[in-house]
Amino acid sequence: MPSCHSTNDIAREMLVRPDIAEGMVVITDHQVHGRGQRGNSWVSAIGQNLTLSVILKPSFLSVSKQFYLNMISSLAVMQTIEDLLGSSPLVQVKWPNDVMLNEKKVCGILIENIVRKSRLDYSIIGIGLNVNQKAFGFDRVTSISSALDREVELQKVMEILMSNLESLYLKLRSNKEQEIKEKYLENLLGYLKPRKYQSEYVFEGTIVDVLDSGLLKIKTPSGNNLFDFKAVSFLWN
Ligand code: BTN
Repeated sequence: MPSCHSTNDIAREMLVRPDIAEGMVVITDHQVHGRGQRGNSWVSAIGQNLTLSVILKPSFLSVSKQFYLNMISSLAVMQTIEDLLGSSPLVQVKWPNDVMLNEKKVCGILIENIVRKSRLDYSIIGIGLNVNQKAFGFDRVTSISSALDREVELQKVMEILMSNLESLYLKLRSNKEQEIKEKYLENLLGYLKPRKYQSEYVFEGTIVDVLDSGLLKIKTPSGNNLFDFKAVSFLWN
């Protein structure tokens, strides 16, 4: 659709339809009220980037493992950028579910789950992927075309992204959780590397694991600590 408030909101409204098919995509050129994590807004230049939401029905997954949806979504975006950029660019996933290109944010993901009796009835995977936008007004933000130095057709990016997401989702459905987790950790910014974090105070620590529920495990001199996504953020300097 040419314009809408938020593709995640439209996707959620569509769930009441009895004929809603898994894999349905809501996509727009212009989100007026794009939503980000932690109640932030998501602003994207009209017609230059991908702003879309995919409806999944992951009823095979227990709520305690919901973070696998974040993992496969981040990995699908990461794979898409690698497919487009070819020669080994620095693409990393950043917990909980950003994707970084050359240490700048290229994609944000907002996942909203609808839970019934501790199973996931529906999951709305909202993806904002910067493709052709060049100016952002923030330092640590980039786009695929900034790295490629040419524009990319949005339709092509979307096709590659949907195909990558589908194959990772099928992997998850066939219980290849271990493989998914390993790939996520392998490509995770800060994994097994000491760096600075901010919680109630600034501390140095090393990410040693991400639990199935999504909690981040950071090793510090005083022991291992678990953080949820509101409780810790990355520091760059
Ligand atoms: C973040 O990094 O804070 C997450 C941003 C998610 C943005 C996407 S754009 C498509 C979908 N619809 C929304 O309202 N938000 C997500």
